[in-house]
Amino acid sequence: MKLTIIGTGYVGLVTGACFAEVGHQVVCVDNDVSKVELLRSGGIPIYEPGLEELVRKNTADGRLRFTSSTAEGVEKSEVVFIAVATPPQDDGSVDLSFIEKVAREIAAALTNYKIVVDKSTVPVKTGEKVAETIKRYCKARVDFDVVSNPEFLREGFAVEDLMKPDRIVIGVRSQRPVPAMKNVYAPFNAPIIVTDINSAELIKHASNSFLALKISYINAISVLCEATGANVQEVAHGMGMDERIGRRFLNASLGFGGSCFPKDLSAFVKIAEQEGCDFALLKEVQKINASQMDRFVKKIVDTLWVLKDKTIGVLGLAFKQNTDDIRMSPAIELCQRLQKEGAILRVHDPKAMEKASAVLKNVIFVKDMNELADGCDALVVATEWEEFKKLDLERARQALSHPILFDGRNLFDPAEMERLGFIYKSIGR
Ligand code: UGA
Repeated sequence: MKLTIIGTGYVGLVTGACFAEVGHQVVCVDNDVSKVELLRSGGIPIYEPGLEELVRKNTADGRLRFTSSTAEGVEKSEVVFIAVATPPQDDGSVDLSFIEKVAREIAAALTNYKIVVDKSTVPVKTGEKVAETIKRYCKARVDFDVVSNPEFLREGFAVEDLMKPDRIVIGVRSQRPVPAMKNVYAPFNAPIIVTDINSAELIKHASNSFLALKISYINAISVLCEATGANVQEVAHGMGMDERIGRRFLNASLGFGGSCFPKDLSAFVKIAEQEGCDFALLKEVQKINASQMDRFVKKIVDTLWVLKDKTIGVLGLAFKQNTDDIRMSPAIELCQRLQKEGAILRVHDPKAMEKASAVLKNVIFVKDMNELADGCDALVVATEWEEFKKLDLERARQALSHPILFDGRNLFDPAEMERLGFIYKSIGR
């Protein structure tokens, strides 16, 4: 099929590349001309495992193209996906100005029937507004359909998630766009749920909020575990064996971050408020998340007492593993909190150091994770990168002035750390 994706961020670019990979003809549109140039020349603006190869291959095969013209994209396709940013505003609500602008641009370019699909995460009832806007700004009387098709990919696993989705959600006002939408997704062999637009939009916010709730739940349990000497990983394992609960997203941590969960929780609370409901449960999820960071910082301060002029090595800057994304990263917040206490920071991340250098000032970026401990008083794990598990602990113990390691992601085994001679403090164990 001929498809256009507007917006080449994490969702748009990965979607475009994967659609091309399964055989569709895809045009990716971005109003950032330099980004389009970069993509045309084979460059990738983000780090995402497997993405660069996919983009290169499909561009070379002529199935994936890039342009900065929305009109060109709209004209060339049967289905137009909107995948632009929906950033948070100060009051927690969502800034929908990019969606509105794209809706106007699509309207101006419509000459025949198109399916306009919203893939960005948006508040319930946005589809109605998009349809109204297109109708208002379209000069000719052209038929179109608006569809809601939320995306569930995780950063760091985006290609994998997109190629093998658990489900495809399609929200529609009429049955007319359904066969085409099913054709788009036919190569992915995933269950397709066809529902109304408002329900589809709610599925996305409800899913992300539930996953965030799951993390806050296990984080609350981790506090109890610390108080009672229990082990949160054993508890999560025991709970997760129940198929109704499941083990995934039950990893206690210094808190969740990223460009989705914190933003989507605030948005969902706000949406509920606007509909006259107090979503107190989600406010508690936010509170627990903030307190995990407070508790972790306190653990460090309680152990090292005065942080002023102490050197701390921080492993991880990205908000999670396998990405260079530092938006709302708990690791960055942790660094800033430690700096406020007067600590000197040496930091390492396999992929996010360049992006972090724009926001973290007066820190020493260390290329080799095994050299991070040199001259440090303590080490801190802030991101769950798999490769941190291969840290040369023997070398680190010798390099540290005192063998202290704070693990905000429970990457290491407490018994093994004790055997190696570390003072080891993790979450809920
Ligand atoms: C999340 C959802 O998982 C995706 O399904 C959704 O499509 C995406 O938001 C989105 O709305 O675009 P993402 O933010 O990329 O994906 O990353 P996650 O893997 O969900 O992790 C989010 C945060 O929770 C990270 O900081 C991670 O370290 C933390 N986390 C995750 C935990 O602290 N514990 C866990 O058990 C799992």
